[in-house]
Amino acid sequence: MIIGIPREIMHDEDRVAATPATCAKYVQDGHKVLVEAGAGEGAYFHDEQYAQAGATVVSDALAVYQSAELILKVKEPQFNTSLGRHEVDLMRPGQYLITFIHPAAPSNHEMVGNLARRGVVAMTLDGVPRITRAQSMDALTSMSTCAGYKGTIMGCNLLPRFAPQIFSAVGMIKPIHMLVVGAGVGGLQALATGKRLGAKVFAADIRPAAREQAQSLGAQVVELGVPDEAGAGEGGYAKSLIPEHMAQERAALAERLPEMDLVFLSALIPGKQAPVLITEDMVKSMKPGAVIVDISIDQGGNCALTPPGEIRTLHNVHLVGIKNIPGLLPESATTMFAMNVYNLVHYLLKDGRFHLDDRDEIIQGILTTQGGQIVHQGAREAMGL
Ligand code: NAI
Repeated sequence: MIIGIPREIMHDEDRVAATPATCAKYVQDGHKVLVEAGAGEGAYFHDEQYAQAGATVVSDALAVYQSAELILKVKEPQFNTSLGRHEVDLMRPGQYLITFIHPAAPSNHEMVGNLARRGVVAMTLDGVPRITRAQSMDALTSMSTCAGYKGTIMGCNLLPRFAPQIFSAVGMIKPIHMLVVGAGVGGLQALATGKRLGAKVFAADIRPAAREQAQSLGAQVVELGVPDEAGAGEGGYAKSLIPEHMAQERAALAERLPEMDLVFLSALIPGKQAPVLITEDMVKSMKPGAVIVDISIDQGGNCALTPPGEIRTLHNVHLVGIKNIPGLLPESATTMFAMNVYNLVHYLLKDGRFHLDDRDEIIQGILTTQGGQIVHQGAREAMGL
């Protein structure tokens, strides 16, 4: 298979879909890899390293799209201003694409329709199910890990005070209090990072299993007063709360917020809008200089005031709504992402060809367009098909 790695064209996107190390693996597996010149520069992977790994570095995106049978990317196809064409229009019938597509998001419906019309076989990385055998292919989990770590560092950086306990000649300075709401993948990483930075950490989640994991990382659990069966659904996944329980949760959080310096928000039910857990009045009750890092912002945010894509200070509280936090950790994010993609490609290819058996749970989850049709269930539902 000829595998193409274009440079990402979204503004400020420094990640890339393959590292020199994964290129070497593709080559070892018998594939040919074409890398657009400069594709890895933002993540500090240089053209010479790709060439040394056995990849062919080509000067422009067009050549990559024209020659490759499989395109590996990070972000969904975008309009390429330097070529004056949309990335979808650079693709051809029967060509394969693996990337994050987020096909159910309304802003992507037109692009997904165009991928189908173009005859592209597109697979979305956000569809990899969270099951044991797919763990090594789960780029979303890797990116949440990056967001948990980097989001906490960004939060501490905005704080006007030390995070750890400091002993000094003028006395002891107390450690900050950090609250994580939504102790899933991103939240647990945030707790672990906060703990390493010396914060006293607290956690809230509606799933008992998540609370146990948070406790094992040294967090004190904030009781929300929501019955376990109201928050934990089938297979241990979280489920949406009824308005009465949501109000109860907000009240419980409101009681604890005034003592918090750093609040990390990562509460989400997969496929749903993020629950709004922190209101403007609750923000007003916080300490001056406190920070809220709201990583659920792509799904609308857990705080009513989070500015999408920005950092803003309101009521003396710094609100972080940065959307692409893993992109601010480009080398680690790329290393994890590229390995997840390699594992997925390795899983899907048999004898150098794709065998897309739609009875396979992983393939069901990722397959987005095929045979001129949109086949992704979530996207079809969202589009009313
Ligand atoms: P996850 O599904 O592992 O964790 C979400 C957690 O929220 C679960 O433990 C769930 O039980 C909990 N939860 C749901 N409703 C709740 C409620 N009402 N109160 C308290 N807890 C509740 O998800 P993951 O992978 O940690 O992602 C979290 C968020 O981070 C997602 O919105 C994801 O899109 C976002 N994200 C943002 C990035 C960025 O750069 N801004 C990068 C990566 C992920």
